[in-house]
Amino acid sequence: MSSRSNKILTLTLAALLPSLALSQKSQLDTPPALYLGAAWYPEQWPESRWDADLTLMEQAHIRFARIGEFAWSSMEPTEGTYDWTWLDHAIAAAAKHHIAIVLGTPSATPPAWLTQKYPETLRYESDGKRAEHGDRQQGSFISPKYRELCRDIAERMAKRYGHNPNVIGWQLDNEISSEDYGPVARTAFQGWVKDRYKTLDALNARWTTSYWSEAYTDWSQIPIQEKYGNPGLLLSWKRFVSDTWRAYDRNQIDVIRPNIPSNVWITTNTMGWFDGYDHYTVSKDLDMSAWDDYVGRGHLNPASNGFAHDLTRGFLRKNFWVMETQPGFVNWQSDNTALDKGEVRAMAWHAIGHGADAVEYWQWRSALNGQEELHGTLVGSDGTPVPLYPEVAQLGAEFAKAGPALAGTSPHSEVAILQDYDSRWAINWQRHNQAFDPQTQLVSYYKPLREVAQSIDVVSDTALLASYKLVVAPGLAVLTDEAASNLMQYVKNGGHLVLGQRSAMKDGDNSLQTKRAPGPLADLLGGRVEQWYAIQSADQARPGDIPPVTGTWGTTTSKIWAEQLSTSSSDTEVLMRYGKSNGYLDGQPAAITRKLGKGRITYIGAWMDDATLLNAARWMAQISGVTAALGPVPEGVEVYPREGAGKKVFILVNFATTPQSVTLPSAMQSILDGKQVTTLSLDQYGVAILQAK
Ligand code: GAL
Repeated sequence: MSSRSNKILTLTLAALLPSLALSQKSQLDTPPALYLGAAWYPEQWPESRWDADLTLMEQAHIRFARIGEFAWSSMEPTEGTYDWTWLDHAIAAAAKHHIAIVLGTPSATPPAWLTQKYPETLRYESDGKRAEHGDRQQGSFISPKYRELCRDIAERMAKRYGHNPNVIGWQLDNEISSEDYGPVARTAFQGWVKDRYKTLDALNARWTTSYWSEAYTDWSQIPIQEKYGNPGLLLSWKRFVSDTWRAYDRNQIDVIRPNIPSNVWITTNTMGWFDGYDHYTVSKDLDMSAWDDYVGRGHLNPASNGFAHDLTRGFLRKNFWVMETQPGFVNWQSDNTALDKGEVRAMAWHAIGHGADAVEYWQWRSALNGQEELHGTLVGSDGTPVPLYPEVAQLGAEFAKAGPALAGTSPHSEVAILQDYDSRWAINWQRHNQAFDPQTQLVSYYKPLREVAQSIDVVSDTALLASYKLVVAPGLAVLTDEAASNLMQYVKNGGHLVLGQRSAMKDGDNSLQTKRAPGPLADLLGGRVEQWYAIQSADQARPGDIPPVTGTWGTTTSKIWAEQLSTSSSDTEVLMRYGKSNGYLDGQPAAITRKLGKGRITYIGAWMDDATLLNAARWMAQISGVTAALGPVPEGVEVYPREGAGKKVFILVNFATTPQSVTLPSAMQSILDGKQVTTLSLDQYGVAILQAK
């Protein structure tokens, strides 16, 4: 082709796709290792304002803006009439400021004309009321018409912007979470159950429907229940919801993927601990995981928040993005207290330490009206920076500086914690003791293990476990056959599996196992749970209600829950025993362990306090050959190792309220100040990025 015809083709293409700036260098050519971003809503502001906003963003080293995710009525003001001009211009304007774009599909906010004309697209709430226009997430995740309309708008966006050199990634919808409980969902659920169980006889047997005359004689009799109901039905509904959200996302992925280059990713923003669906299922078709990290009220809890980061990293077992976080404070809590000066920056480095490659602030500037007027922002309603802006700008400069050291690195752990949605749901439906919160139980193990190992992976119970020296399953109440054989294999291959209280009581249908807990793992353990007891809270307990526990890890009590264990094999050792309490527990095993060749399995039946669990974590590490990634640091200082591409980098953040001194095992390069250091002092919220030689 001659250069002239080349030019004509270029001009023609450029005219056809005005947003495709062919001469512009792609943001994808030189992506920064760490991205700082902001949620920007150009549709809420006159175009004449955009340059001022983008200039301020660029000055803060903001390298991407996420746009579009709530803008359906601006893209398609009336049915079949599209206005892409503003979006073309916004993407191009951002590019001029070296700000890349993450494009959100707008399916969380269908326009009024849409739901008015197609009321079948509106979802039903669980109380039978129909959602209305005026809030968001009113669309049904299963309505065929809604799927068709979502697919159409996503495809139009993908065709127009899929190859725009400034669009680096796609976010599907926004925080998918509101199910539909209407007739369409119910029929689909019945079909899903039929696919899974094949015959009503099988379903009736596996759900034990002879109980309370629940037996079904026709698939159409099966109801939707989500809080109190047959445990097999409850679990099936959640699994159906998970599959339906996956299909909901897939509906858009299928039209976006063919229209984007292979280095452009598709994600959706999830919500950390939120358990409305199984995130391992929903993540299967995504290229990257992302979550919205909000503290809400109070201050950052590094353990619980760190768990949520590691959980998100575990969905696809690779680095992820923090797609939203609070610039200081939110608006949706009862008390929307602000993070301290310095805490926003510390929180961002905490995220990077856990494997995030981007942190985005929600939002850049408040809409002048709308439900979230009082939320934290980076610029005020007058369009000038708020007091937090310089801190975020400093962070942006630091991202740029530390990017080369962190490029190609990710956290690598010797220890995994197993997190399982089936189990969290099953425990929550039948807590047995209201204080038994699966989230608290997970963190009770995560916190001391992180302190000891300084890096933890959080993965599903069917993940490949061979690389871990230690695998801890705090509350794996539901153990499917697949997970059971995965865990048995792990122990047989030389791993150390630790089960926490309530493990493997249930099978994959949420039925009680026909063997005492830990069900299929009891033979391997050479021991079992004889009985479980809910424990009275300290303020209501009589003397003797709270069992003392003593042994290898020290002396404490068992709160919330206590399992009376027994051993059936001569080589199963007792690590901890109960003291005198309810009579049954007196003198009985509270924690047992058995060595099997190079492997080991341990069961902990008591819910012990933090200090004793820290001793337990030290014992687990020592016996499994797990070592701290960096070495000892003062309390309150967190260490986050990232390695890869021939580099080993440690991020340190001081969450203690006083300055702390750290002595390093060897001299390291301090990336932010360019010095060689062997000791360092960190103020409260102080951060150091250290590259090992
Ligand atoms: C998120 C949501 C954002 C915004 C933010 C406020 O959950 O995705 O759109 O509402 O909360 O904190």
